[in-house]
Amino acid sequence: MRLQVLSDLHLETESFDPAPAPGAEALVLAGDVDSTWAGLERFAGWPVPVIYVAGNHEFDGRDVEQVWAALRARCRTLGITMLERQSLVLTGADGRRIRFVATIRWSDFDLFGEARRDRVMRAARYFVDVMRSTRHGALFDAAAVREESLACRRWLKDELARPAEGAWDATVAITHYGPSLRSADPRYGGQPGTASFCNADDDLLPLADLWIHGHLHCRHDYRVEHPGGGSTRVVSNARGHTHKGETDGYDGAFMVEV
Ligand SMILES: [Fe+2]
Ligand SMILES: [Fe+2]
Repeated sequence: MRLQVLSDLHLETESFDPAPAPGAEALVLAGDVDSTWAGLERFAGWPVPVIYVAGNHEFDGRDVEQVWAALRARCRTLGITMLERQSLVLTGADGRRIRFVATIRWSDFDLFGEARRDRVMRAARYFVDVMRSTRHGALFDAAAVREESLACRRWLKDELARPAEGAWDATVAITHYGPSLRSADPRYGGQPGTASFCNADDDLLPLADLWIHGHLHCRHDYRVEHPGGGSTRVVSNARGHTHKGETDGYDGAFMVEV
């Protein structure tokens, strides 16, 4: 199945016209499409199924619990399939059934291990302040982000480990946050703030054939070899912000085959 991949379009400020890639059988939107949600309308009437996973910016200034229901309702009216801690099986033109396993994932701040968790959670305060989100009426702070993140991780681990029993031929994981330090933005590398962007989900990578993510405003396409043979392809086609030079050379028709 050929998948067009887009994320981090940030249409709340960026001018970008998403267009269907010729030959794509589905479109994967890996979050941060538009913090105002208005830009989601661009994907109504898209010629192939649109699978959307929310990004952190879709929560900006909102209450986390309220966002899930409202965003899901908005997507439903637009004909977009929003997935959160949900999976979906689509059949490709070649008859192969592809399972999509999706969650925003947030960040659990354990990217550099438990010993550095406090340090990276202090570094996360900047992002929490920018987001200005609440949960149960209180600031959606780093501790609350970690709590949500761990719930996402538990679901993701169980779902990825679920045996196919003939129900699908390949698995695509979709998370907004990066699944490995290998997805770090080379501009920032392994600094504490990177734990607000990537999780140490390396142990889960072998359970997926392809892992699509966004959040880091750089592009990735790399393979992780498994100890027992085989490999997982990790892809991000994040666009980012023009004023930071992140959109230079962006290919909005980028496709990956699974
Ligand atoms: Fe983003
Ligand atoms: Fe993001």
